[in-house]
Amino acid sequence: MAKNVGADGRETWSSSTGFILAAVGSAVGLGNIWRFPGVAYDSGGGAFLIPYLCALLTAGIPILFLDYAIGHRYRATAPLAYRRMAKKTEALGWFQIVLSFVIAVYYAAVIAWACSYFVYAFDLRWGQDTLNFFVGEYLQVGDPEISTTIVPAVAIPLVLVWIAVLVVIALGVTNGVQRINVIFIPLLFIAFIGLVLRALTLPGAAEGLNALFTPDWSALADLSVWIAAYSQIFFSLSIAFGIMVTYASFQKRKANMTSSGLVVAFANSSFEILAGIGVFATLGFMAHQASTSVGELEGLTGPILSFVTFPAVINEMPGGTIFGVVFFASLIMAGFTSIISILLGVAASVSEKFGLSSTMSAILVSVICGTISVTLFSTTSGLLALDTVDQWANNIGIVVSAIAMAILVVWVYRRSELLRSHLNAVSTFKVGRWWIAMIGIVAPVFLSIMLIDKLRSLIMDGYEDLPQWYLGLFGWGTIAFVLVGAAILTMIPWNGRDKADFTPWPPLGDRAEEEARR
Ligand code: PFF
Repeated sequence: MAKNVGADGRETWSSSTGFILAAVGSAVGLGNIWRFPGVAYDSGGGAFLIPYLCALLTAGIPILFLDYAIGHRYRATAPLAYRRMAKKTEALGWFQIVLSFVIAVYYAAVIAWACSYFVYAFDLRWGQDTLNFFVGEYLQVGDPEISTTIVPAVAIPLVLVWIAVLVVIALGVTNGVQRINVIFIPLLFIAFIGLVLRALTLPGAAEGLNALFTPDWSALADLSVWIAAYSQIFFSLSIAFGIMVTYASFQKRKANMTSSGLVVAFANSSFEILAGIGVFATLGFMAHQASTSVGELEGLTGPILSFVTFPAVINEMPGGTIFGVVFFASLIMAGFTSIISILLGVAASVSEKFGLSSTMSAILVSVICGTISVTLFSTTSGLLALDTVDQWANNIGIVVSAIAMAILVVWVYRRSELLRSHLNAVSTFKVGRWWIAMIGIVAPVFLSIMLIDKLRSLIMDGYEDLPQWYLGLFGWGTIAFVLVGAAILTMIPWNGRDKADFTPWPPLGDRAEEEARR
C-alpha cells in the first residue's frame, strides 16, 4: 500500500475509518478485558455505572476532544504540538510521552503472558491448581527483591512481542499501524462477541450477571468508587498520555474530529460493558459448578482474573479449549493494538525532536523500551514490580498529567476558546461552552480531589505491605524517572530549524496564538 501523505508532507491515515479503527484499537485493550469487570464488581456492581458514566461525560469525552483538538490543530506529536500551542508547554508533552514509555514497558509483559497462555490453552497445560501454576511454575514469583534470574517462558514471548511491535511501527502509520488495526479490531469484536454468547449459555450465567449488575447504592457515597471510575476512564480511553494527540495529528486536515471521538468513546465503553457481561457470566458458571455464589469466589481482579480464575473455569467448561484459545487470542489482539499506539507516540516524538527518520526512531525506541522491559519483567520479581509501577503510573502520573493539561490550556495560556473553534470548524458535532466548563473546572476539581486522596493513602499506608525501599524504587522512582526524563528531553535543543514556527489551519485569527510563536 502506498503511503498517504497530506499537503504538508505529513503521513496520514488513509480515511476516517482508518483513524477510528486505530483509535478504537488504542482504547480497547487489556484495560477493558481484565481491568473493567473487576473494578466494576468491587465498586458497587450495577451502581458503578453511574460514576462510570459521569466520568465518561465529564472527563473522558471532554479530554479526548482536547487531545484531538491539540493534535489536529498543531499537527505534531505531543511535545511539538504543545510547543506550537505555547512554547513552555513542551515539557508537559514529554511528561506524557515518558509516562507512556513506562506503561509500554510493563504492558508488553502482560501481552507476553497472554501469548504463553494462548499456547497452553491448546492442552490446558496449567493443570488443576491454576494459581500455583501462574505464580509458581510460570512466573516463579519470588520475594520483593531485584532478581536477575530470567524466566525463559516469559522472556521468549516478550522478545517476540517487542520484535512484532518494532516491525509494525517501522512500517509506518498507514502500512503498519493502520493495517494491523483494520485486521485485528473487527476480528477482536467478532471473537469477543462469540465468547460472550458462549458464556451466556453456560449454566449459572444469570447469577453471574446478577452479581455484576445488582446495584449497591451505598457505594455511591464512597469517594474511592468515584476515583476508581475516573482512573478507569483515563486508562481505558488512552487519554492524557499524549497518544491521542499523536493519532489526531496523522488525521487529514479536513476531518470530522468530534464525531470520530464520540464513536471511539462509545465503542470503547460498549466493549468494556460487553467484557463485564462475558466475564461475569463465566464466573456465574464457575460458582454454579462449585455450588457457591459469585461473591464467595476469589481472584476477580487484575492479572489473577485472566491468568488464574479464567484457566480454572476453562478446565470445567465443555469445549473449554476453544474458549481458552479464543480468549487469549482476544487478549493478545486487544493488547497489541494498544501497545503499538504507545510506541508510535514515543517513536514519532523522538523522530520529530531529533530529526531522525521515522524508521530509525522506531528501531531505536523499540530496542530501548524492549530491552528495559525484558530486563525488568522477565525475571522472577516481574509480577510485583509490574503491579507497583502500574499503581503509581496510573493513579499519580496520569492524573497529574490531566490536571496540568487542563490548567495550562484553559487558565494559563487561555487556548480553550480557540481549540473549541478549531473543533467546530472541522467537525459536524459542535461543542458548546459546556466543554470548556468540563475541562476547565469539573475535571480538574474531581481529579485534584482524587490525587490528594491517593497521595495520602500511598504515603500513609504504603502499598500491599511492600517494604519502603521497594516502593521508593518502583513506585516513587517511576514518578521521578518520568519527571527527570521529561526535563532532560525538554532541555535538549531541537535538531535543525525550530519546528514550533508553524501556521495552524484553519486560520482563526487568534492574536495570542500568533504571538505565542514569536
Ligand atoms: N487503553 C488501553 C487499555 O484500555 O488497555 C491502555 C493504554 C493504551 C493506555 C494507550 C495508555 C495509552 F496511551
